[in-house]
Amino acid sequence: MEPAIVCRALTKSYHTGGTITPALRGIDISINAGELFMLVGPSGCGKTTLISVIAGILDSDGGECRLFGTNLQGMDDNERTLYRGRNVGFVFQSYNLIPSLTSAENVAIPLLLLGATRADAVSKARAMLERVGLGAKSEANPTQLSGGQQQRVAIARALVHNPKLIVCDEPTSALDHTTGGEIMELFRHEALNGNRTLVIVTHDARIFHYADRIARMDDGRIMQVAQDSADLQMEPTHT
Ligand SMILES: Nc1ncnc2c1ncn2[C@@H]1O[C@H](COP(=O)(O)OP(=O)(O)O)[C@@H](O)[C@H]1O
Ligand SMILES: [Mg+2]
Repeated sequence: MEPAIVCRALTKSYHTGGTITPALRGIDISINAGELFMLVGPSGCGKTTLISVIAGILDSDGGECRLFGTNLQGMDDNERTLYRGRNVGFVFQSYNLIPSLTSAENVAIPLLLLGATRADAVSKARAMLERVGLGAKSEANPTQLSGGQQQRVAIARALVHNPKLIVCDEPTSALDHTTGGEIMELFRHEALNGNRTLVIVTHDARIFHYADRIARMDDGRIMQVAQDSADLQMEPTHT
């Protein structure tokens, strides 16, 4: 069986005002279905860029990235957006919640994009908010929520449409230890029981033990893939 994610010789540079910043310098990696895979490394080493390419949000310059056997680079923008909508849930570092909508309406968005009725989407969104411990805040706006609560809304939005792949940028950084642990238990459950693949960028050493494998990145490259965080040749640092 092909792994859930296969990246081969993946490269990406940013071009801004005559400056070229290499962000990925040849990434080779494969991640299995049902695996909880973490990515660690210093700020600026390319973690967000890599998960954005994997999630089909960003185009690479070279190499290939296959998701469940499908080469995203071969798709046009519409096809890729559709594929992503069905198969990928993304938790952004900055949450990206829409302030004028309630929590439940924010969580309902992926379902609405897939054609669900409003009533059905909002009812599933409420159930998902219950699962992340935020049922009581379904009708609140993001501005009325703490950072940790907003993060849980963003996580509920990434899970609500049952995507095969969930990609998260620092999902527990704004959460206290107990809530962070609860969120990781939920992710763990999703990976094991839903046969979902999770790719999680983190600096949070307290959650390393939830990972099946941890990859350490530096300067646009994967330096090491470890099964046990104790084997990582690094000091965990801050963003
Ligand atoms: N939109 C962008 N435009 C220009 N450079 C960028 C952009 N996003 C990221 N970079 C640069 O690419 C490199 C990798 O960034 P990023 O993937 O965000 O790293 P990380 O998530 O590990 O902190 C850094 O040098 C960063 O400054
Ligand atoms: Mg980042």
